Amino acid sequence: MAPSTTPVFLILFGASGDLVWRKLGPALFDLHADGWLPERWAVLGVARSAMDEATFRARILDGVQRFARRSPDGASWPSFSSRLFYLRGDYDDPSLYAELSQRLRMGEPETSDMAYHIFYLAVPPSVTETIVAHLGDAGLVRDRDRHRVVIEKPFGHDLASARALNSRLRRFLEEHQIYRLDHYLGKDTVQNILALRFANAFFEPIWNRQYIDHVQITVAETVGVEHRGGYYDQTGALRDMVQSHLLQILCLIAMEPPVSLNAEEIHHKKLEVLHAIRAIPPDQVSTYAVRGQYGRGRIDGEEVSGYREEPGVDPRSTTETYVALKLFIDNWRWQGVPFYLRTGKRLPVKASEVSITFRPVPHRAFPDAAVQSWQPNRLILRLQPEEGVLFRFQAKAPGPVMRLRPVDMHFLYRETFGNDPPEAYETLLLDLIRGDATQSLEAAWVERAWAVLQPILDAWARHPPENFPNYPAGTWGPPEADQLLAQDGRQWELPTILEETRGGVERGSG
Ligand code: BG6
Repeated sequence: MAPSTTPVFLILFGASGDLVWRKLGPALFDLHADGWLPERWAVLGVARSAMDEATFRARILDGVQRFARRSPDGASWPSFSSRLFYLRGDYDDPSLYAELSQRLRMGEPETSDMAYHIFYLAVPPSVTETIVAHLGDAGLVRDRDRHRVVIEKPFGHDLASARALNSRLRRFLEEHQIYRLDHYLGKDTVQNILALRFANAFFEPIWNRQYIDHVQITVAETVGVEHRGGYYDQTGALRDMVQSHLLQILCLIAMEPPVSLNAEEIHHKKLEVLHAIRAIPPDQVSTYAVRGQYGRGRIDGEEVSGYREEPGVDPRSTTETYVALKLFIDNWRWQGVPFYLRTGKRLPVKASEVSITFRPVPHRAFPDAAVQSWQPNRLILRLQPEEGVLFRFQAKAPGPVMRLRPVDMHFLYRETFGNDPPEAYETLLLDLIRGDATQSLEAAWVERAWAVLQPILDAWARHPPENFPNYPAGTWGPPEADQLLAQDGRQWELPTILEETRGGVERGSG
C-alpha cells in the first residue's frame, strides 16, 4: 500500500513521558525510515516539563537509539528530527490551547491547512477529560473528518466510569473521531488470528464445541511494575490487562466469521462475543476468578522485591498482580467450552500464547503401550516473544512396534519472513493516519468488557484478600489458579518457549 498523501500533524500530549520515549518516537522513526509516512508530516510534542526543542529531539533520539528497529544515521535522523517540535503548557490552562491553535493555524512547517490533526493523549487517564474539553472549547476538534483524538487504555475504571467518560467525550467528539487504543491489536500475530481463521478453509469446520475441548489464553510477564507503581497500584491486573488485551484476544478467537474486514463489521462480531459471555454470579466469583500478588522471589536467578516493596506501591496494598479466570460463551459455537485466561507480573517467563486443545479421538484403537505419551491435539498461537503457530498431533515413533508420540508442525514468522514484524505501535500509528479504525476499540465494546468483569471487581472490592502476597516472584501464580483448572480435570499448559528450553514436547505440560 502506498503511503497516504494527506499531510499529518500529530500532536502528542504527554510528550515528555515514557510512552513517547519508549514506543511512539521509535515507531514513528521506523515508519519514517521505511517510507510509510506521508511526504508532509510534523509532530508537536506537548507536556508540562520545561524543555526546549533541542532537548525534546535529543530525548526522542535516545528512545530511537534504544528501541527502534532501524538505527538513525546521518541522513535519516536529520530529516526526521527537523519535523519534531515542542510546546510546554499545563493541560488545564486555556492559554495552552490558544497557543496550540495558533501553531496549528500557522500550519507548522511542512503541513498545510488540509492536514489531519491527530491529538494523541499519551497521558494518565486522570487528565484525558480535561484535555478533550479544552480541545473542544478551543474549536480544535470541530472538523469531524480531519480531527481525531487518540486515547490509551485504561478507558475508565469500571463500567460506570467508562460510561460517564464516553458520554462526556461525546459532547465534543463524534464516535468515529475517537480512537481508543489497545496496543495488542497492533501486534502482527494478534492480527494473524483473523488470517489464520478466515483465510484458511480447514480451521472453520473444527472451530467449535464439537472438536474443541477448551481454550487457554496466557499473557505472562517477568517484569514487575517497574517505575509505574503509582498507576498500577490503583489499577491491578484485571483492569490493566484482562479488560483490554485478554478479552480482545478472546474475541478474535471466538468471533463468528466476518463478512468483510471493515471496522464496523469486525467491531460488531467482537461485540457479539462479549454479549454471549455468561454472567458470573456475584456469589460464585471465587469459582470463576482467582487473584494473586507477588512476594519476593527470583527471576532469571536474581533476587527481586515483592510487589508491596516496589516504589510507589502501598506497603499494605491489596492490588492484584495476577488474575486467572474461567469464562463461558453461551452460543451455538461455544456452549460448554471453557475459556481459561491468565495474566500476571513476575511470572517465570515472558510469553503470550493461545492454546486450543481439541477433544480426544472418539475411540482409541491403539494398545496402552502405544499411547503412553499421548496428548490431545493442540493448536498453539504464539503471540510473543517468538511469533508463530504450532500444531501438535500424534505420530508414530520410528521403530518396529507401534508407539505414538506428540510431534509439532511449526510456523515461525522469523524463519518464514526473515525480518521481525513491525512493532505494534507502527501498525497502530499508520492506521490512525489512514483513518482506519478496525484496530481501535469502540465505546460499546469497552463498556461491555467492563460489564463482563464488573461482578469480579465488585466481589473483590467487598472482600479484600487476606493472603497477599500469595505467590513468590518467579512462579506460576497462586495455587488456587491451578485448582481453577484442576476442578475441571485440566491443567495449565506451559508456554512453548519453556518446552523448547527444557527439551521437547514430552515434558511439556504443567
Ligand atoms: C500494557 C500494560 O498495556 O501492556 C502493562 O499496561 C504491560 O502493564 C504491557 O506490561 C504488556 O505489553 P507487551 O506488549 O509487553 O505484552
